[in-house]
Amino acid sequence: MKAALAAGTALLVASLIAQTPAHIRPGEVWVDTSGKPIQAHGGGILLHGGVYYWYGEDKTLGNGNRTGVSCYSSRDLLNWKRESLALPKDAMPEEFRDNGICERPKVIYNPETKKYVMWMHLDDRGYAIASAGVAVSDNPIGPFQFLRSFRPIQYDFGFAENDRTRQAELGSTFRDMNLFADDDGRAYVFYAAEGNPTIYVVRLSADFTGIEAPPVEGKTWERILVGQSREGPAPFKYNGTYYVITSGTTGWDPNPASYAVAANILGPWTRKANPCVGEGRETTFGSQSTFVLPAPGKPAGEFIYMGDRWLRNNLADSRYVWLPFRIEQDGSFIIAWRDQWDPAPTAR
Ligand code: GAL
Repeated sequence: MKAALAAGTALLVASLIAQTPAHIRPGEVWVDTSGKPIQAHGGGILLHGGVYYWYGEDKTLGNGNRTGVSCYSSRDLLNWKRESLALPKDAMPEEFRDNGICERPKVIYNPETKKYVMWMHLDDRGYAIASAGVAVSDNPIGPFQFLRSFRPIQYDFGFAENDRTRQAELGSTFRDMNLFADDDGRAYVFYAAEGNPTIYVVRLSADFTGIEAPPVEGKTWERILVGQSREGPAPFKYNGTYYVITSGTTGWDPNPASYAVAANILGPWTRKANPCVGEGRETTFGSQSTFVLPAPGKPAGEFIYMGDRWLRNNLADSRYVWLPFRIEQDGSFIIAWRDQWDPAPTAR
């Protein structure tokens, strides 16, 4: 009996050890603290009160939006606890559930309203609705309350006839997106617009649940990387310079990344080359950008690239490609592959 118990305990300990990752291993299955693969695709991270919250698309029940937006928490970026389904699909309008689309959810905190504000890309199966969704919560792990879906900007960029997305009438399309909370208290949404050739950067309203009104091109919002067909925008800031890593637009297939820099968030933005080096550079190591996070406790200028290695027929098994990088003196950076690496803070 005692021996059986001891053997059982040993097994349990062994399995717990096996489940506790010692490193970030890009492209490998990454399990949460209960041993289940993390479901937070197209995700983003909010750091709040010393805790990292990772929000993303939960594909547990299959492709489309059959589950909703998940939330995991961690203090070390390695061990992630499943907290909740922060925004279940049933909390969203029916047209976006099941065969509908809810992608690339991101959350920022508004210190004035003390609310956690989530933005996401909502769509139908054919990606024709192409709208933003906004939800709010009093708690980082939810439950988030769905507020509305809309297209933030109406802009005449020269509409095509028979535009299935009806941009002349409904405004520019809203697809791959990200949020950026600036250090002056303002926040912005970056998104692929105009059917994806152009990215919009739009300042949010003071409560972050809408855009600053009235929208004025060049003052409250701007078209950037015009006609360059970039998506997967992952903005960040270092040393007074704004950066955005983007991918090309090849659906679920990976392609070369590039980045752009600007002294002003509304531009002008200068496009730079592919920051990836070595084998895999042409596919961003088989991934598409979703977020960039300042590396915890590291010297300033160190960041983490987060991308998705999509598995189109079984999105639930898509993998995460997280890689560390450092901005050089001249403001440039490279991203190199690592089989595994440790996100622990560096002693200074
Ligand atoms: C990609 C996009 C993904 C998803 C996919 C659908 O371009 O980045 O988030 O929308 O297309 O094909």
